[in-house]
Amino acid sequence: MTQSISNQEHFITLSRQAAAEGAVLIKNDANVLPLKPQTKIAVFGRSQFDFYRSGTGSGGSVNVRYSVNLVDGLTKKNVILNERLKETYEKWLQDHPFDNGGGGWAMEPWFQEEMSITPALVAEAKLESDVAIVVIGRTAGEDKDNLDQPGSYQLTKDEETMLDLVSQTFDQVVVVLNVSNIIDMSWLELSSFGERINSVVYVWQGGMEGGNAASDILVGDETPSGKLTDTIAYRLHDYPAAKNYGGEEKNHYEEDIYVGYRYFETFCPENVLFPFGYGLSYTTFDYTIQSAEIKRNCPSELIEVTVKVTNTGATYSGKEVIQLYMEAPQGQLGKPVYSLIGFNKTKKLAPGETEIITLHVPIEQLASYDEVGLTGEKASFVLEEGEYRFHIGTDVKTIKPVLFNEKSEVFIKHTVIDRLEEAARPVEALMRMKPGEKRGDGTYQLVYEPVPMRTIDLDERINTRLPKEIAAPKTRYTLQDVANAQIDMDTFIGQLTNDQLATIVRGEGMSSPYVTPGTASAFGGVGDDLLHYGVPIACTADGPSGLRMESGVHSTQVPIGTALSATWNIDLIEALYTCEGIEMYDNQVDLLLGPGMNIRRHPLNGRNFEYFSEDPLVTGAFAAAVTKGIKKAGVEATLKHFACNNQEKHRHNVDAVVSERALREIYLKGFEMAVKDGQARAVMTAYNPINGHWAASHYDLVTTILRREWGFNGIVMTDWWAKMNDCVTGGEAKTTQTNHMVRSGNDVYMVVNNYGADINSAGDNTLQSLEDNTLTRAELQQAAKRIIQLLMTLPVFKRKQTITEQAVIVTPQEHESIGAKSLDLPLDFQTTNEQRIQVEAPGEYRIIVTLMSPQSNLAQSACRLMINNQYVTTIQTNGTDSHVIKQKLVKVALDKGTYSITLQDKGEMLHIHTLQFQRLNQ
Ligand code: BGC
Repeated sequence: MTQSISNQEHFITLSRQAAAEGAVLIKNDANVLPLKPQTKIAVFGRSQFDFYRSGTGSGGSVNVRYSVNLVDGLTKKNVILNERLKETYEKWLQDHPFDNGGGGWAMEPWFQEEMSITPALVAEAKLESDVAIVVIGRTAGEDKDNLDQPGSYQLTKDEETMLDLVSQTFDQVVVVLNVSNIIDMSWLELSSFGERINSVVYVWQGGMEGGNAASDILVGDETPSGKLTDTIAYRLHDYPAAKNYGGEEKNHYEEDIYVGYRYFETFCPENVLFPFGYGLSYTTFDYTIQSAEIKRNCPSELIEVTVKVTNTGATYSGKEVIQLYMEAPQGQLGKPVYSLIGFNKTKKLAPGETEIITLHVPIEQLASYDEVGLTGEKASFVLEEGEYRFHIGTDVKTIKPVLFNEKSEVFIKHTVIDRLEEAARPVEALMRMKPGEKRGDGTYQLVYEPVPMRTIDLDERINTRLPKEIAAPKTRYTLQDVANAQIDMDTFIGQLTNDQLATIVRGEGMSSPYVTPGTASAFGGVGDDLLHYGVPIACTADGPSGLRMESGVHSTQVPIGTALSATWNIDLIEALYTCEGIEMYDNQVDLLLGPGMNIRRHPLNGRNFEYFSEDPLVTGAFAAAVTKGIKKAGVEATLKHFACNNQEKHRHNVDAVVSERALREIYLKGFEMAVKDGQARAVMTAYNPINGHWAASHYDLVTTILRREWGFNGIVMTDWWAKMNDCVTGGEAKTTQTNHMVRSGNDVYMVVNNYGADINSAGDNTLQSLEDNTLTRAELQQAAKRIIQLLMTLPVFKRKQTITEQAVIVTPQEHESIGAKSLDLPLDFQTTNEQRIQVEAPGEYRIIVTLMSPQSNLAQSACRLMINNQYVTTIQTNGTDSHVIKQKLVKVALDKGTYSITLQDKGEMLHIHTLQFQRLNQ
């Protein structure tokens, strides 16, 4: 389970490069950055030591070999660190260790207590240093949205005092933001201290190489070339989703397609502090448009714009991002003033060096979705007739018009690009934003219009499209017969019994003993019967920013999604994820549970760090790059969370009430790109409902759009312990309604307990539904076919899988047997993490654990079970609302003798009650 050294080294190099390229310099007055060689620097803020490498939750739990903080990074550079200040911090940190909130799920606080800064301390630091660096750290994550409070979105009083004192004393101050997502920046405008800050750089959270990458930027070994993929508004309540964000039961997407800069530039550009696409460099660039043409010869029409970019600086090499925006006619549908339709990044240009960048945009990409036929045909993507303008720029506000034959506008005739069918519309009334009258400055009045509601008969749609049952063959075959082309897949599927089909739609986990220890799930042949047919068991692991293996095995942690997309460097991220794919392959992980790719609708979403942007094109481009990169290593990505997982609070229940247009143009667009361009083979549905249907049982989402329209031919899985409701009538959601899951086109329920799939330990209704006709055998066969088709393309199919369960062999130790317990009774772990046992009868024992977690069912907890310091298994559960549950764990082979049993890294939210060693028949 080790990877080749060369991939590891390459992976780390690319990871550092991505973290550096993702850093966004938003202010650099008097060119305080980069720090000149031998600059004397004083670094303030504890996060220089406790440098965050990621957000929290499943997307952040990577067990790394090492992690480089900012001090480590700067120490290796040619600058002089103020040692006295560093020691003061180190001493203080001894009594103020990192607070992880107890280690439980979503317990880690958003920020860490700061050391109080006194005028005397700053004055003393100033005696030896010329430049002050102030590091501000923040985190957030799964089940832990940011809050509009000091210490989360806002600065704390301590941080303000620190910035105030430092900027009064130092006349060169750099702020380093080690954060998972944009934070409030309005303080930068404050005359008290904000205006005195010279430089600000968002270094985000750069994975395990974060401190090295941030240092590369600070000293100018790398020139910043990152650009914001979100708009930074003056105030949080300026964001168009602010009014509805965070709701418990409903989240009305009133802003419709006017998300991020689409909203600000259309209605209120004055509310923007730092625009979408913005980021400074240490050098300067000039760009001129060389040519602009609509090419009509290709399979479809293509806009081609070539831009000459020159590094006009004298000292630093650097890269520039060229962005192409469209200004479409308002027409009948209404449009944002600007929409990003293409971008490209230069290579590293030396001073004076030039590169010609070409942008190609298929004309279909300019289309808008017409729900009700205002332009002629309903449910179609159309180009509304009128004058289209295009702009090239380095952010959405710094743009130049593109001239086509010396004209700034291109007339496009009314064209229907794609005829689709109505899907996933709201079933309750909703008003949405729309541009009204045009104002003199080119912006629009904000008006509202009713959103078109569902008009189709979902029951009829589903029932007329049910698949046909595959007949059973007379002979028994194995999957290898399909691989050898002796039989076709249908013949293989036809022989599977209802029980077997019901088993295959259940994934097991977490930490299934069948697959790589400590990973998220095992799926496929999770039942003896299926294994005998040669159906392998594939392994999934979180994702997205590194392999999550709760077994203690190390893996590489890459920068968070925020940083990856801020690079605007698609090729780099694709190459990075090929390394990730190789690491997956080497660890026998077949599917990564990532990329996370929900739209960053609002800055408070805790999982924004896993996602890419407020913009669908940026989101889709990076998701496709991650997917392609991973595929190059022979493994697969899983696009998540499909769709609208745009807040963590109440994520299990909050209904996204959203128009079909906003879904298709904004929230689903990125997924479409990753499916069509990235060729993704796996998708994870979200926890939340969308227009009354939980995503895991959303027929239109999964079947009408994803499968039928986009041609997706892979598997769809639920999120872990997700709920489903009636795929026709909606209503109450339950974790057991797998009939609606399968009927909607969602193939795998993630997850039931280990060893629980073939005994239906979760009590789902799959088999019962075949009896009451709410599901057909043909639908189950269809799901099984998709699962098996994917399995056959994964490394697991070629790997020799040990099908029989092997007991973990542990040898006894020379412990004193006095005080060691016998195995007759369950061992009580309620008040201890360690017990010693005396084994009298050598043989194989099944371990049964009883446990509970007081948290609710989406919280995850884990610990490692060690016997004589040897890793045996990971005990992992979701929250049980304090109910004590039983889990079957691995088998162990024990000799006569004494053993010490320990629970390692157990957080406060996992309560192990007992461990029982049941002797198995010998
Ligand atoms: C998260 C998913 C993750 C899964 C497995 C869920 O709680 O929402 O993103 O992949 O757990 O860890």
